[in-house]
Amino acid sequence: MGNTSTRAAHAPVPIRAVVFDAYGTLFDVHSVASLAEQLFPGSGDALSQLWRRKQLEYSWLRAMSGRYKPFWDVTRDALRFAAERLALSMQPAQEVRLMNQYASLSAFPENLSALRALKAAGLPLGILSNGNREMIEVSVRSAGMTGLFDHLLSSQDVDTFKTTATIYALAPSAFGCRAREILFVSSNCWDAIGARWYGYTSFWINRAGAPLEQLDTQPDYTGSLLTDVLSVARP
Ligand code: LAC
Repeated sequence: MGNTSTRAAHAPVPIRAVVFDAYGTLFDVHSVASLAEQLFPGSGDALSQLWRRKQLEYSWLRAMSGRYKPFWDVTRDALRFAAERLALSMQPAQEVRLMNQYASLSAFPENLSALRALKAAGLPLGILSNGNREMIEVSVRSAGMTGLFDHLLSSQDVDTFKTTATIYALAPSAFGCRAREILFVSSNCWDAIGARWYGYTSFWINRAGAPLEQLDTQPDYTGSLLTDVLSVARP
């Protein structure tokens, strides 16, 4: 178990399903940093950080203005911007290698056992992600998580990104229960808060010891590892 500090913001209701964010939560988006470092010595970490930041910014802007395009394409746009911003003169073959690496990101080490324990407790599980369907399916397969999820819910189902209500609405509809009865797990604090705004019971996995986002709302629970979810989902 990690350094759990759980805190219920509201009277807890029984949890009937657990839904996970994908990028940063199940899959380590910064696992691309070592390839980035190999391609651009001295800039791998900066490229990985700026790439992720731009990817999120573009998803928020596109959601706000109704300008959806698949997350894979948004991710490539963000990579191109980040490389140019860092003056890396990325060649097409290098772009392809980095994008391929993004398709099979490493999973965090404790994830598989946490997911198996939740599944063994009889809880239906899902992913609700900005990723397009193929991205999610390939990542699940390459992380050895095939068969663990009852629903893979994608931005492509609604042509918009988090934090719009339309995308968060996918899980209550798929699982046939109220948002409050679903534990929404994300290591992106803004996403855990966005889910809470929608009505989920939310759990923030704060792996990096980041400060709470100042958005006037807190996730219902906070922990530092995916295994910390077990104590809330199956008390
Ligand atoms: C996702 C992004 C937010 O998977 O990480 O939806």
